[in-house]
Amino acid sequence: MQAAVVEAPGTPPVLQERPLPTRGEGGVVVAVSAAPIVPLDLLCASGASYFGVPSVPYVPGVQGVGVVAEGTAGLVRGTPVWFATSAGMQPGDGSMRAFAAVPEHDVVALPAGADPVLVAALGLSAVAAWMALTFRGGLTAGERVLVLGAGGVVGQAAVQLARSAGAGRVIAAARSERARERARQLGADVAVPLDTATDDPADVAALAERMGADGPVDLVVDPLFGVPAAAAVRALRPHGRLVNLGSSAAETAPLDSATLRSRSLRVLGYTNNELTPPQRAEALAHVVAEVLAGRLTAAHERVSLSAVTAAWTRPGDRVVLVP
Ligand SMILES: NC(=O)c1ccc[n+]([C@@H]2O[C@H](COP(=O)([O-])OP(=O)(O)OC[C@H]3O[C@@H](n4cnc5c(N)ncnc54)[C@H](OP(=O)(O)O)[C@@H]3O)[C@@H](O)[C@H]2O)c1
Repeated sequence: MQAAVVEAPGTPPVLQERPLPTRGEGGVVVAVSAAPIVPLDLLCASGASYFGVPSVPYVPGVQGVGVVAEGTAGLVRGTPVWFATSAGMQPGDGSMRAFAAVPEHDVVALPAGADPVLVAALGLSAVAAWMALTFRGGLTAGERVLVLGAGGVVGQAAVQLARSAGAGRVIAAARSERARERARQLGADVAVPLDTATDDPADVAALAERMGADGPVDLVVDPLFGVPAAAAVRALRPHGRLVNLGSSAAETAPLDSATLRSRSLRVLGYTNNELTPPQRAEALAHVVAEVLAGRLTAAHERVSLSAVTAAWTRPGDRVVLVP
C-alpha cells in the first residue's frame, strides 16, 4: 500500500510502498479516506516538538477518517470512523497511508452522511475550539467571545461554534482581509485586522483598542499567543478569561501584570491531549453534529496522498490528503 514516510526529522515525507498493517490485539484496521496535514504533524516531524525527536522512519498523521476494513464486535467492517494516532509523539505510524491499524479506544464511529474530507479538515482543530470555548473557557449564553487567528481552522471553528453555542457577540481577529471576510460569512459580528502589530507597547495598546472597540469581551480563544494574546487580554472585562491552545504567532507573549491583576483575569492553557477517549469522542460527536446541521465548515483543499511532499508545508487552506 502507499504511505507517506518521514525518513529524517526536519524533512518532508515521501511516498513509499509499505506492507499492509495487521489489526493487532484490541485494534481495528481502517481503510483511510482522508488525512489532514495539521500544525502538530509539521511540529512533530520537525524534531523540535516538546514530545522530542520522533523515531524514524515513520508515517505521520495524528488523525484521519475512513471506513473499518477489519473490525471488532463493537466496530464492524464498513463502519465510517474518525480516528486519532500518536504518530510523531510516540513511536508508531499515523494516518497518512491507505490503511491504518488503530487501537479501538482511539476510533470514533461517525453517523452516516458526514463528508469524510470535511470531518478530517475540522477534526482535532474543531474539538480544541469547542473544548476551549466550553470545557476550559466556560462559555455561557450571551457572552462576548474574541477569536484570534480566525483564518485558521481552530479560528474558523471557534467563530461558528461560539455562535451556535449562544455567544452574544463574536469578534474575529485575523491577518488577511480574505480571512476576515470569511469570518464574517461564518457568523462573526466584527472582524479586526491583526496585521500591523509589533511588540512595541504602543502597537500592543493600539491592537488592544481595536480588539475592544466593540466593547469588552468575556472570553478569548487564542491559538496564536505572542502580541495578539497580549493585546487580547487588554480587551477583556474584569474576571474575563483567555484560553491559549497554540503558539502560531510566538512561544512567548508580552503580557503586562497591571492588566492581569487589576481586572483579576484568568489566562488558561488547553490541550486535546488531556482529554480521555470518551471526552474526545463526545466533543467530536458535537463537531460532526454541527457539520450535519450545516452550522460548521472549514476551508480546505483535497490533495492526493501521492502529492504529500509538495503539499507538506504549502501555505493556504487546510490540506486533506486522500489516498
Ligand atoms: N491545544 C490543542 O489541543 C490544539 C489543537 C489543535 C490545534 N492547536 C494549535 O492551534 C494553532 C492553530 O491551529 P489551526 O489548526 O487553526 O492551524 P492553521 O489552520 O494552520 O491556522 C494557523 C493560524 O495562525 C495564524 N498565524 C500564523 N502566524 C501568525 C502570526 N505571526 N500572527 C498572527 N497570526 C498568525 C494564521 O494566520 P494566516 O491565516 O494569516 O496565515 C492562521 O490563522 C496551532 O498552533 C496548533 O498547533 C492546538
